[in-house]
Amino acid sequence: MTPSTGLFISFEGIDGAGKSTHIDAVAQAFEAQGRVVTRTREPGGTPLAERLREMVLNAPMDALTESLLVFAARRDHIAQVIAPALAAGHVVLCDRFSDATFAYQGGGRGFDWQLLQTLEQWVQHQGAPGAGLLQPALTLWFDLPASVAAARLASARVPDKFEAQPQAFFEAVAAGYARRCAEQPQRFTRIDADQALDAVRVQVLGALRSKGFLA
Ligand code: TMP
Repeated sequence: MTPSTGLFISFEGIDGAGKSTHIDAVAQAFEAQGRVVTRTREPGGTPLAERLREMVLNAPMDALTESLLVFAARRDHIAQVIAPALAAGHVVLCDRFSDATFAYQGGGRGFDWQLLQTLEQWVQHQGAPGAGLLQPALTLWFDLPASVAAARLASARVPDKFEAQPQAFFEAVAAGYARRCAEQPQRFTRIDADQALDAVRVQVLGALRSKGFLA
């Protein structure tokens, strides 16, 4: 994997935070400025990673197995989609990335944070000496109380394994996101997602402008 020339942005938050709706608006904003956008998601984004997603979202398994599967899916996704798109100069908009593993497996499931960091080193290293880890240039963290997210999800589709978890699980996931944000504040922008759609969109586009990514 070579160091990239594109722009990598991830979207994070607990289930029900509403992030997916805003990815469309961000894609349109970049396309309006002539950028090529690769929109993708995790777990998933490649045929293999989508198969792993089905397993992670539906089959009962322990937290280590879950972590290994999401990082395996991520490895394939980086190699097949993210790194080539960045090398081609695309804007890569990814609905969840490794912060979700720290939040869900680390925070929600209580799995070993340091072991997740080790897996992250293996999976996201960029090969060249000194190139560091592949990380988003910006992570938009859609933050809202777990109780609000739970109310939104109650009227949604048939829940998967994670969506069916109790509110306390999502409080722990949110704490995982907060920890990750505190560890890497330069990369994160917190979006107050407990607002009307338009107000959230204003925050999202404002964050992209203030980082200099959108004119
Ligand atoms: P989503 O595509 O609707 O966000 O669903 C993906 C689910 O998978 C969501 O509940 C979060 C969970 N997940 C993990 O547990 N670990 C991960 O590393 C990722 C990327 C997602």
